[in-house]
Amino acid sequence: MKILLTGGAGYIGSHTTLSLIDGGHSVTVIDNLITGAKKLIPSGAEHHECDIADKKLIERILKKNQFDIVMHFAGLTRVDESVKYPEKYHLNNFEKSKSFFNCCFENNIKKIIFSSTAGVYGNSNSEYIKETENLKPINPYAESKRNIENFLIESSNSKKINYTILRYFNVAGADKDKKSGLISKSSSNLIKVVCEAAVKKRDKIIINGNDYKTKDGTAIRDFIHVSDIADIHTVAANSLFKNSISDIYNCGYGQGYSVKEVISEMENIINNKLKVEIGPRRKKDIAVSIANCERFKNKFNWKPKFNNLNYILKTALEWEKIN
Ligand SMILES: NC(=O)c1ccc[n+]([C@@H]2O[C@H](COP(=O)([O-])OP(=O)(O)OC[C@H]3O[C@@H](n4cnc5c(N)ncnc54)[C@H](O)[C@@H]3O)[C@@H](O)[C@H]2O)c1
Repeated sequence: MKILLTGGAGYIGSHTTLSLIDGGHSVTVIDNLITGAKKLIPSGAEHHECDIADKKLIERILKKNQFDIVMHFAGLTRVDESVKYPEKYHLNNFEKSKSFFNCCFENNIKKIIFSSTAGVYGNSNSEYIKETENLKPINPYAESKRNIENFLIESSNSKKINYTILRYFNVAGADKDKKSGLISKSSSNLIKVVCEAAVKKRDKIIINGNDYKTKDGTAIRDFIHVSDIADIHTVAANSLFKNSISDIYNCGYGQGYSVKEVISEMENIINNKLKVEIGPRRKKDIAVSIANCERFKNKFNWKPKFNNLNYILKTALEWEKIN
């Protein structure tokens, strides 16, 4: 397949590019490097340093190539930042994505894979969230994703395009050969923070709230290894390439770990205690978020390869040591 992939200089986009290239596919990356890093783009991919809203350049790229599928990862990803600057998220994640997709549709692109988030469910009452759950995003980041999901659903009717919407839960870990990983100077990603503390790049970990109604009071998340997420994209692309079907899938392992459990697992790995402080809850944060991920598994007979918190933490730690 010939794939146009936005956000390929970012964490998940670069891992997916690696997986696609390994699978023999051709990948063209669009990334303006606003949060991404050029060094993460795998050498086998072509890169255009360009904004997704740069219609002229995107059109030129689309006309020059006959892409089979567009994968759209580019976006801003911080919930806390989105609460502070909602307009920034509306513009970058919603308006610009819409403009990008319209440009794709005008240039004969019919198949889209979109990076959405479990955040679209908001505070769900279900223990294991299904794709059919009502969407109640509670922060501007998740709202921007829900809005693009709706835009794709409308476009599939009005423009006869097909989409695969992938709602990721918490993506973590790094490529086993250290070819890619998470690079971010001020990440709020728990596993990144824990790794930084483990290699002494920061002196303590602040737990954002220990008064949630969970087993130990800290928030619970479903962590999925980034290489499994990359594999999910390859599987989804192979299917979308052959079939004109649209669908939405959760991407997680269906298993939740609390913030304290993650810290404790890292302490086991490094055989040392980490300094921990209890801080206030983050605004508009969710208490528990665990996927029911049966739909993707059943549809594609897919099995995760890296469903193991210890492995997730170890690969993230190895990456942190060299970055
Ligand atoms: N990391 C997670 O746990 C997680 C969970 C759910 C959903 N997602 C979604 O997955 C996607 C990828 O996330 P990530 O963690 O790899 O983030 P990231 O910040 O590492 O990567 C995003 C990339 O998009 C690029 N980008 C942003 N805006 C752009 C624009 N206007 N034009 C061109 N390039 C632009 C950035 O430079 C960056 O390289 C995002 O859409 C995010 O919302 C991530």
